[in-house]
Amino acid sequence: MSTDELLGDPWAAVIMAAGAGSRMRSRRPKVVHTVGGRPILRRVVDAVRAAGIPRIVTVVGPDADDVRSAAGRGVSFAVQQQQLGTADAVKAAEGACGRDEQILVLNGDLPLIEPETLRLVRYVHENERADLTLLTTYSVEASGYSRVKRDNRDRLVGLIEERDADEADLKIRELNAGVYAFRASWLWSHLKQIAPSAASGELYLTDLVRIAAREGGRITSAPVLPEEARGVNSRAELAIVEDLAREKVCDQLMEAGVTLIDPASSYVDDGVRIGRDTIVHPNTTLRGDTVIGEDCEIGPNSIIRSSRIGDGCRVLASVIEDSIIETGVSVGPFSHLREGAHIEAGAHLGNYAEVKKSRIGAGTQMHHFSYIGDAKVGRNVNIGAGTITCNFDGKDKHETIIGEGAFIGSDTMLVAPVTVGEGGRTAAGSVVTRNVAAGSLVVGVPARPRQPGAHGAATIEESKPA
Ligand code: UD1
Ligand code: MG
Repeated sequence: MSTDELLGDPWAAVIMAAGAGSRMRSRRPKVVHTVGGRPILRRVVDAVRAAGIPRIVTVVGPDADDVRSAAGRGVSFAVQQQQLGTADAVKAAEGACGRDEQILVLNGDLPLIEPETLRLVRYVHENERADLTLLTTYSVEASGYSRVKRDNRDRLVGLIEERDADEADLKIRELNAGVYAFRASWLWSHLKQIAPSAASGELYLTDLVRIAAREGGRITSAPVLPEEARGVNSRAELAIVEDLAREKVCDQLMEAGVTLIDPASSYVDDGVRIGRDTIVHPNTTLRGDTVIGEDCEIGPNSIIRSSRIGDGCRVLASVIEDSIIETGVSVGPFSHLREGAHIEAGAHLGNYAEVKKSRIGAGTQMHHFSYIGDAKVGRNVNIGAGTITCNFDGKDKHETIIGEGAFIGSDTMLVAPVTVGEGGRTAAGSVVTRNVAAGSLVVGVPARPRQPGAHGAATIEESKPA
């Protein structure tokens, strides 16, 4: 339980996320689209939580499983049966808000909103003992926002939705960001007074400003920068917001001592951690909960998703997914590490190596076009060019085990399940269908034991351990 809850914090948040987002022209609801690798809605939820409001009610449409999972854990849901407008969305959350005294209401499509800004809204609202507090921004790029109308004494008198605005209103540069604080009892009693808009038939939450002004309620506002207040209604806005989010992540990384050769082509999810003096080369995508150590060189042209990379690693033009790489490993160019690859310290994966669900031992060399799947490879093994673990028999996957110091000749097919003992050797072109005893050499198709030193054990020069 947080201190806020122990102190009987009176705040709850309502996030409106039931809209279809038709301007996105998407089969999926707008708020499940991602920015910086996180669903738009999740970013709003995270910001609200970081602002110290643990009780969050998300308003969703019926059958909105994808929206529910985009919200993440620890939030409750209220269902808005029909999308009748933002006032109706908030109304749907009334039951779930219970006895909370103050309600922060947010559009679910504000992926860049910062916790500090939400804290400011809370502070201003409490300090001014307001019935309604509005978050507003100033921008010449006003399209899509309602205009904030003030009287000649600067008092808030109403919000004009763009489609209801006349020429003069459209020139107003103070805009409604889509975040509001309400005294709960005021909110629940006044929501009922909202009538459908003449232009669209929708129930606008924004009408509450006019209603409050008319009856002399206390209305205040807090400011926010226009970039932070960017709502996502279309794909074009999604791209702008993605760009802003990326810029911020790149700035933070550089601040923390990471070199980005070209920030504009470094696509890094927020949450990715990178150690000092690592260099990220152009056209590199780092996704999910990836952690990269210090003194690495990543890219150019690499994709790393949900993986751990140790210190001093080199990843060139390669794809690494759900994998672990220890220190001093080099990968690429043109290699693919798939789920469950674990590469121990100092191993080298060269051109066109593919590894899946396998452990590659420390110091092992695997330089040229090979596939290792469902295998355990010991330390200091040499995997010759073109080596393949034949791990799939058409029905099931089988395991290959290669012992420490083994030497796998070029073009060896290891037909799993099969084991090559420690120091075992396979000749070039062998098809290994039976276990190879430690220290012995096998040759041919299917491979049979041969005395060490006999003809056929050749491999190509480059594959010898360094
Ligand atoms: C809204 C505001 C506008 C503000 C702008 C800021 C209204 C009427 N307009 O416009 O004043 O300047 O945000 O970005 O509030 N939603 C529901 N149920 C509904 C309708 C909408 O849950 O019936 C949700 C949407 O999923 C969305 C949010 O409410 O997350 C806002 O709706 P949206 O359609 O994006 O409103 P805007 O046109 O952007
Ligand atoms: Mg919007």
